[in-house]
Amino acid sequence: MRYGKITATARYLPTKVVTNDALAQLMDTSDDWIQSRTGIKERRIAEAENTSDLCLKVAQQLIEKQTIAPETLDFVIVATMSADYTSPSVACQVQGALGAVNALAFDVTAACSGFVYALATAENFIRSGLTRGLVIGGEKISKLIDWQDRTTAVLFGDGAAGVLLEAAAKPSIIKQVLKADGTRGDSLTAGYRVTKTAFYQEANEKNKLAMNGRAIYDFALNDVTKCLKTFVGEETIDYYLFHQANERIIQKMARKLKEPIEKFPMNLANYGNTSAASIPILLDELVEAETIRLDGTQKVVFTGYGGGLTWGNLLLEL
Ligand code: ACO
Repeated sequence: MRYGKITATARYLPTKVVTNDALAQLMDTSDDWIQSRTGIKERRIAEAENTSDLCLKVAQQLIEKQTIAPETLDFVIVATMSADYTSPSVACQVQGALGAVNALAFDVTAACSGFVYALATAENFIRSGLTRGLVIGGEKISKLIDWQDRTTAVLFGDGAAGVLLEAAAKPSIIKQVLKADGTRGDSLTAGYRVTKTAFYQEANEKNKLAMNGRAIYDFALNDVTKCLKTFVGEETIDYYLFHQANERIIQKMARKLKEPIEKFPMNLANYGNTSAASIPILLDELVEAETIRLDGTQKVVFTGYGGGLTWGNLLLEL
């Protein structure tokens, strides 16, 4: 039996830093409100770069770090809710630009759970015989934001990060659970594609990101936490890498799990909520800091939750 092993991590953040004070120039908000409600201090915003540009930068680093020839990749999977096009996928754009001519390529759309969904999917490709590939979470979420809406505009940021997954005798992912509840999809919507055909013209205002913050908050603290508690059981976990949406949510989840907050590394102060990119950005920072060693000796949980609604957990030995 062969399993997927994470052998490299990488991230790319756009260079433009937008502080809370800068947002307060654009809308009726304040650094104090944003920090006290969310923990966010600043975020990165991509200007000319699109989602595929961010993801390509990650892909290039991943193959350089392990000196991998692009034609030896079997798959490129991108988790995103902010693709450049409906078609081609971001993954195909990256595959083409990288010269990964032998790789299958497609996007996974599961909002902020996207990276967890994509990594679980990639693991199944390795278990069924493929040898190596890239799994990237990347978002230019700023283009989906209503910049007049202070209730959402202050929360999000752009970025991308990912991993190289390669076949090995010992697995990185030892357990997984993926969940969805489409009946609550209205709690977070973005990018509605309006029908304007020769036969029907739809009037709508729904294409910008809209979120029922309170409903998502409750969902995180109830459904997601309950699922995680059952998932972890009696395992001793070294680190929990949570989707980085809100510091208060992470603190409350830690308390509910009866785990010390030190096990829940956070970087949302610097980047805000980068949706599908948040877990791999955090992972790469921790690998760089040698907090996570990728030597197979640490137990780490990845937890994603968000639009769909979707949520999921992976237990990894990293
Ligand atoms: N600046 C100043 N005031 C604001 C702002 C702002 N940016 N935004 C809202 N307010 C005001 C509101 O208008 C409201 O005023 P009112 O009482 O006069 O009506 C007041 O602040 C409180 O607003 P709430 O929405 O009740 O604030 P809350 O404490 O619930 O925090 C937040 C909102 C941060 C969005 C929180 O609900 C949250 O974190 N939700 C979860 C979000 C999340 O986890 N998303 C992840 C999934 S994202 C994905 O999948 C892509």
